Formats: sequence, C-alpha cells, structure tokens
Amino acid sequence: MSAPAFRLAHLSDIHFGKIADARVVPALVDEVNADQFDLIVLSGDLTQRARTREYEAAKQMIDAFEAPTLVVPGNHDVRAWWHNPIGRVFNSASRFRRFIGDDTTPSFQVPGFAAFGLNSAHGLTIKGGKIRPRHLDEMQRFFAAQPTDVFRVLVLHHHLIRLRALGSHDVARGAKAALQMAGEAKVDLILCGHLHVSHVEHIEIDVERERRLVIASAGTATSSRGRGTNKNVNFYNHIDVWPDRFAVEERRFDPAAGTFRPDRTTSFDRIPQPEGVAHP
Ligand SMILES: [Fe+2]
Ligand SMILES: [Fe+2]
Repeated sequence: MSAPAFRLAHLSDIHFGKIADARVVPALVDEVNADQFDLIVLSGDLTQRARTREYEAAKQMIDAFEAPTLVVPGNHDVRAWWHNPIGRVFNSASRFRRFIGDDTTPSFQVPGFAAFGLNSAHGLTIKGGKIRPRHLDEMQRFFAAQPTDVFRVLVLHHHLIRLRALGSHDVARGAKAALQMAGEAKVDLILCGHLHVSHVEHIEIDVERERRLVIASAGTATSSRGRGTNKNVNFYNHIDVWPDRFAVEERRFDPAAGTFRPDRTTSFDRIPQPEGVAHP
C-alpha cells in the first residue's frame, strides 16, 4: 500500500478540568508526535469551564505538538453568562483568543490539502452552536481559491446535520445553509465533536445532483465525559488521504496498556472533481 499523501490527527473535547486518566494526555501527545502528522485538528471544548488553569493546560498541550495545529472553540470554551453577560453575546471567544489564538476561523493549506475551521460557539446559542453568515462567506472564499483536486476539510465543534445513529442531538443554528455551502465548496470531510461519541458516516446532500460528504464526529480524546456507548472511553481519529481515497481510523484508549489502539477504520473513495471549477 502506498504511503498517504497527507496525514491528519483529529482530536476533540479534550475538556481540561475533566481529564479521565492522568496518563491519557501524555500518551496522546507522545503518540501523535511519534506519528508525525501533517496537521493536528482540535475541534473544540478544550476546557470544561473556560477557567484560566484549564486554558493554560490546553495551551501547554497544543504547544507540545510538533505538527501544525488547527483549533476551533467549543461551547465549553466560553465562560458562563453570569461572568460577563454582555461579553458572552458580543465577544464570546475572548478567552479562546487570549489563551489559544486570535483566529477563531483558522485555515491551513499545503499542496493537495486545505482545511478551514468555523467558530460555532458564540452568541446566546452556545450549547447547540450557531454559524455566522460572514464566517460562511469566509469559508466559501477560502475553498473557492483552492485548485480542483485539493482534499477539502471543514472543522467545527458542533454538528451541521442530525445523524440518526447518534440519537437526539444538537444541530447548530444556521447548519442547513452551512451544509449546503460546504457541499457547493466541494468539502470532502467534516470534522466535529461535541457529542462525545466517536462516529464516522457519509451523507448525501442535494448539490449538483447528489454530493457525498463524510462526517467524522470524534469522541472525547481525554475526558471522563464519554456518552452512551462511549461512556468512560476515549477516542481520537487518524485520517490518511491518498489521491484516490481516504480513511478514518478511530483510535481508542486502552487503560490496561496506557496507550491508544486502532478500533475501527472506514475507507472512502475520493470523488473526482469536474474540471474547471473552484479555481480562483
Ligand atoms: Fe464536549
Ligand atoms: Fe461541546
């Protein structure tokens, strides 16, 4: 089997303040660094209550990664409204900006690969998520500037569509427009979290007849907040991208061994892009 052209680690819902096992964070950092990924994605909920010490631990973890990182905030990275009711509505990412970085819609691109992060944790509807139209415009411009054959990844904390397999769950406000726009932007893969259950699924949306999108909703990588079938279980994703296909490997923490191990791998063919679209 040929080596993948691009390799990505997807971590979510770290939740410093609710770490499950003292060994899990160092095990994850060591493993991810040993695997020499091209990019490490963290799809929100770095903290439990947006406390200073939780953010400092999150920043320390991010700084310990050797590969570039792309990080978006989650609902737990915003302070509860009673700390600052006005700020919660108008500047909800203030602590994320202070401790992690100023850009809440980060992007990353190298030849053959492009990723864009949406901030879905703001306003009054933080728990369920909300997508701002101006951020969608940013996303659209970013992907429109990529060559046709680029593998496209959209990162956000919340969900853009209800996945039946995950039961009743939050879907972000503005999700319908965001999903449509992601389809039009030829996004291949959406990386999200929030539900604390590891799940990979492809969906069909109505763009240019039918377009397939794959959604990888990561479990909680390090916290004790796993839900349902993932209760007390930690997961993160390895994603390998080849020119004609990609694969998502869900890795599960094995407490007996103190390391993560491969659990399930799901492979997808890449959809060939029609010529002459999406060039700047
Ligand atoms: Fe979470
Ligand atoms: Fe969340």
